[in-house]
Amino acid sequence: MLVITICSTKGGVGKTTLTANLGGILADSGIRVLLVDADIQPTLSSYYPIETRSKAGLHRLVTTGEVDGVISQTTIPNLDIVVSDDPEGTLENWILHTPDGRVRLKHALQGLGEYDIVLVDTQGAVGALQDMGVLAADLLLSPIPPEILSAREFARGTLGMLERLRPMQHLGAPVGHLHGLVYRMDRTVDARRIADSLRKATFEESRGAISILDTVVPATVAYREAATARVPVHRWEPRRRGATPCALETMTSLVRELLPHLDLQLKETVTEEVTS
Ligand SMILES: Nc1ncnc2c1ncn2[C@@H]1O[C@H](COP(=O)(O)OP(=O)(O)OP(=O)(O)O)[C@@H](O)[C@H]1O
Ligand SMILES: [Mg+2]
Repeated sequence: MLVITICSTKGGVGKTTLTANLGGILADSGIRVLLVDADIQPTLSSYYPIETRSKAGLHRLVTTGEVDGVISQTTIPNLDIVVSDDPEGTLENWILHTPDGRVRLKHALQGLGEYDIVLVDTQGAVGALQDMGVLAADLLLSPIPPEILSAREFARGTLGMLERLRPMQHLGAPVGHLHGLVYRMDRTVDARRIADSLRKATFEESRGAISILDTVVPATVAYREAATARVPVHRWEPRRRGATPCALETMTSLVRELLPHLDLQLKETVTEEVTS
């Protein structure tokens, strides 16, 4: 089981959309996926329709370590979710005041053998809840929006988050490698050139702790439309005209780059699925 946490030092950059769509394409390729909504604003929890709803969710999972009764099933086969069940936002405080609070999610997830991949969506604000999500991960994925394309700003902010948590390795929670993903890229800018300069500056600044993926996710209406229709974006846009790659192409490329060990039949399987 591999845990991937989607995080950023900024809000509104596309974390939830990315988490949902990554989960969607992995599930459609036959991989057993668990989504974890670790944001008190429960956007991911209602992204896809729920088929079977459990009464509890993240709060119970983290505070008790119990895995029974915290998992809900979405209408997408292979895609389950731990919803955010903390409307009053008490979990953040609980984590702060519990000695091993920040590593609770990591340990709780180890009781879930039946998933191949767990995707944790976090809130874009620094705090104990975000720390807990980051520390649960084997691998971190961070969308980088064009506004933050000052490479050094991205590298410094993100490194700050990682460095602060680095000492947790002594408590058995080493911080995972972080992949930056150039996200919501406008057609008018030279994505390749920006990605290259970002890659260079980030590598220098982070001494290899952060790397930038080659895949670039464009800004297109498909991502918003698919969210409204409550379906994974690769199903919504399996093809498109023009130079911008379709969502199926983009998401496939992302999975291949991020998880090269996964089935290379991915695209064929998913294409059959979306066109049938
Ligand atoms: N590739 C894309 N192209 C265009 N718009 C996008 C794309 N991905 C996401 N969006 C839009 O960007 C907005 C922010 O996305 P999202 O809610 O996923 O961000 P977030 O990082 O989870 O925000 P928060 O920090 O508030 O949780 C949404 O309106 C979403 O529809
Ligand atoms: Mg979000």
